[in-house]
Amino acid sequence: MRILVVGKGGREHALITSMKDSASETEIFSFPGSDAIAELATVVNVDGLESLIDWMSENKIDLCVAGEESYLVKGEGLANLCEKAGIPCWGPHKQSAQLEASKEFAKEFMFKHNIPTGAAAGCADIDEARAAINGVYPTVLKFDGLAAGKGVAVCADEASAEEFLNEVLVERKFGAGRLLVEECLIGPEVSVFAAVVDSEYQIFTPARDYKRALDGDGGPNTGGMGAVASRQLVDKALLDQIDREIVKPTVDGLVSDGLPYRGFIYFGLMITEAGPKIIEYNCRFGDPECQAVMPIVSGDMAAFCLEGAKGNLNEDLLSFSDGWSVCLVKASAGYPESSRSGDVISGLENVSNARVYHAGTRKNAEGNWETNGGRVLAVVAGGDDRMSAVEAAYTELAKVEFDGMQSRTDVGVFNF
Ligand code: AMP
Ligand code: GLY
Repeated sequence: MRILVVGKGGREHALITSMKDSASETEIFSFPGSDAIAELATVVNVDGLESLIDWMSENKIDLCVAGEESYLVKGEGLANLCEKAGIPCWGPHKQSAQLEASKEFAKEFMFKHNIPTGAAAGCADIDEARAAINGVYPTVLKFDGLAAGKGVAVCADEASAEEFLNEVLVERKFGAGRLLVEECLIGPEVSVFAAVVDSEYQIFTPARDYKRALDGDGGPNTGGMGAVASRQLVDKALLDQIDREIVKPTVDGLVSDGLPYRGFIYFGLMITEAGPKIIEYNCRFGDPECQAVMPIVSGDMAAFCLEGAKGNLNEDLLSFSDGWSVCLVKASAGYPESSRSGDVISGLENVSNARVYHAGTRKNAEGNWETNGGRVLAVVAGGDDRMSAVEAAYTELAKVEFDGMQSRTDVGVFNF
C-alpha cells in the first residue's frame, strides 16, 4: 500500500509511525515532510497542491492522508482534487473543511443542527462588535479566518476587548475578515476525536491538550505543551452524552447538508455545568493530542484509513488500550513569542520505553539533530494509571536536552 501523508509536524510523525507499525505492508511518502519523517518515509519534493496531485497519480499512490488542515482548503481542496484524480483521500472535501476554516460557518452549522455551543454573533466592524458584547464580560472574540492560532482572545474586561477589537477590526492585523463575539464558557476542556466515513463514525480515546506555556495553565497560549489521553478522562455517561448531543448530530448534519466527509474530526469541548458544549471543530487530528493517542491505538491504521477513504468504516481494524498516555513537549528558547533554531539536541539515544516524535528538528551538517522551530519534539510514555504515565514520561523527557529548552512540569499532574 503506497500512502502519502500531508504535513510535517509531530502529529504526522506519530501518524506515520502508526502506519509503519500496521500489519499491512506499507510504503510511505510525505509532503512536505521533515528530516525526522524522512527516516520513516520518502519525502516528496514538489511545488504546491496541483503538482502534488500529479505526482501522486504518476506514482500510483493508493491513499492520501491529510495530517494537517491547510491543503484541505487551499485552491480547489486536497480531497476534491484527489477525488477528481481517483485517489482515495482520508480528509474531508473543501466545503466540509469550512467547519475548521470559518468559525462563523461552524457556528451556523451548530445552531442549525442544535449542537450545544456558546451563543455567538458575527460582526463586520467595531460598532457591531461592541453592540454584540453589550457590556458582558468575560467575552470571547474570534477572528473569522486564518490567524496562525492567534485569532482568539478571552477578554476579562472592556479594556482588553477594546485592544483586541482595534487590532483585528481597525488595524486589520490579520487582514480582512469578520469577527465572532462568543459567550465565554467555563469548565474543563477535552478533545474528542472521531473517524468519520459518510454517515458512520468511530470515537477514539479522548485527550486533553495543555495549551498554555506555563505551569498551572499560566502564560500565553501555544500550539500545545503536552497532552494526555485515556478512556478514563471522560466517564462513560459523559462520553455517551457527547456522542448523543454532539458527535452524532454533527455527522448527521454533514450528511443532511450534503457535506462529504471521510477523515478524522476533532471536537474541542468545554464540559460546562450545563453539559458538554463545543468550542471548535477541526477537520483533522489534534496536535499534540495525536502524539498521545497513537501509542494507545493498536491494529492496522493504514488499512483503516484506506478502507475509510473508500467508504468503509471498519471498526475492527483498530483497538484502544486502557491506561494512560502522556505526551510532553519540549519547546525552543523564546517560544511561543519567537523560536530559536540551531541548538543541538542531546540524549535522544538514551530514551527508552517512550516514543519521541519530532515537530521542529533538523539534522545539521554533522548529522546531529538540532532544533528547527518552536515546538521541537515530544516524548510520550504510557502507564496503567495517570501518575505512573506522568512519571515515566518525565523520566524520559529529562534525558533529552538542548540549550534554551522549555517544558511544563505539570502535564497530567493535576486532575480536572
Ligand atoms: P481556539 O483557537 O478556538 O482553539 O480557542 C483557543 C482557546 O480559547 C480554547 O482552547 C479555549 O481555551 C479558549 N476558548 C475558545 N472559545 C471559548 C469560549 N467560548 N469560552 C471560553 N473559552 C474559549
Ligand atoms: N490541539 C489543538 C489543535 O490541534 O488544534
